[in-house]
Amino acid sequence: MLGGFPFGRVAAVSDPAAIRKVLVENPHHYRKSALERRILSPRLRNGLVAVEGEQWSSQPRTLAPLFGRKAVLQLAPAMAGATAALVARWRDRPDGNLLDVKAEMSALALDGLARSIFHQGLAGDPRAMRTAIVTFFTTAGRIDPFDLIGLPDFIPRITQWRVRALLRTFDQALDATIAERRRRRNGHPDGAARDMLGIMLAARDPETGKGLSEAELKGNVLTFIFAGQETTSTALTWALYLLSQSPEWAARITTESERALAGPREGLIERLPETRAVLDEAMRLYPPIVGMTRTANRQDELAGCTLARGTMVVVSPYVLHRHRLLWDDPDLFDPGRFLDGAGRKIDRYAYLPFGIGPRMCIGAGFALQEATLVLATIMKNFRLALAPGQSVWPQQRFTLRPRDPLMMAVTQRA
Ligand code: HEM
Repeated sequence: MLGGFPFGRVAAVSDPAAIRKVLVENPHHYRKSALERRILSPRLRNGLVAVEGEQWSSQPRTLAPLFGRKAVLQLAPAMAGATAALVARWRDRPDGNLLDVKAEMSALALDGLARSIFHQGLAGDPRAMRTAIVTFFTTAGRIDPFDLIGLPDFIPRITQWRVRALLRTFDQALDATIAERRRRRNGHPDGAARDMLGIMLAARDPETGKGLSEAELKGNVLTFIFAGQETTSTALTWALYLLSQSPEWAARITTESERALAGPREGLIERLPETRAVLDEAMRLYPPIVGMTRTANRQDELAGCTLARGTMVVVSPYVLHRHRLLWDDPDLFDPGRFLDGAGRKIDRYAYLPFGIGPRMCIGAGFALQEATLVLATIMKNFRLALAPGQSVWPQQRFTLRPRDPLMMAVTQRA
């Protein structure tokens, strides 16, 4: 579909073959859109989401060991620690207490990331850090009108003043943490690589032998928190909401998690296929990232339309995942679509919660491991019921999240 703002042309693409052309086959002709870079770059400068060109091609090579299967498995205890803290907190509250599940999942995802990145914590007052990060994200999710109309970067954005001050606080804490880790690493080079920061400090580009610069290191720490927290927490929030509306699936997940969590930690995620299918289905109905944008840097033919150079191309998982030509009963919550080999029949370009192609989500394995573990642990320990009269409406703010606090009554299982 072709259309446009008064200041530029936009094409929304939902045809699988055209999506393949944009996101996979021609990444150099379709770069991350100027709007996206303008919004992200001042905040995540030098991090993997925002970089382009040579800097981008080196970073995924250097960062690959961080998100390999073995490294992600080693982070399971950090994720389990954050989940155990949540369970202990919820157990301390009276049964039937109303909790804002959206805020709870947001805090949990931040805790899981913080424990995975810095196993000894981040320097500075943890509460001040949390406030800084949470405010940073709520502000960063808003698009400045100056970005939308394409004004150059040197013109100050009023919406950014607050973010800059917060970033300074975060920056200082990060500087202190990295300096301390470098000092300790110099004494014990091998003993340091136990968390993501340790792996990043040791990482080298296999082609050039170069490590990450200080700016890239900091940019990526912030990027992983930015890209990982809101996305994982909204996926979990929607999964818990959908389960509260489906007694059948809630019972199935509770039974599966009781059985799986009673066994050894090894192979745990593989013993939770139904829990994983619920997450897959939650991300189909409510994909945390609703749209990926690219700019065509030359004229092209796409799905029978001529695209002018400079057109912004939008691929929307939200549109794709509910497309009537691509899915049966697209609005129905049915995790069975992803079970017992049924998932293999889904068109690879019809389901894109993590994107596809060279700029696909590097943290997908991390997110799926964490979310599966958290969902199973919550369903084993608690029953959640939507508060009476609670309105649930999706709203797009960096991620697709519930517009209002998502109040649910939480009761401990016997
Ligand atoms: C449910 C959770 C998550 C979802 C749904 C998600 C979704 C996505 C999507 C759709 C993209 C591609 C954007 C595009 O093509 O323009 C992306 C990129 C990215 N994600 Fe995630 N993400 C999640 C979790 C995470 C986590 C936990 C991390 C890191 C710890 C992470 C780090 C990144 C990075 C660094 C990129 C940029 C990759 C590049 O440009 O080369 N994400 N994510």
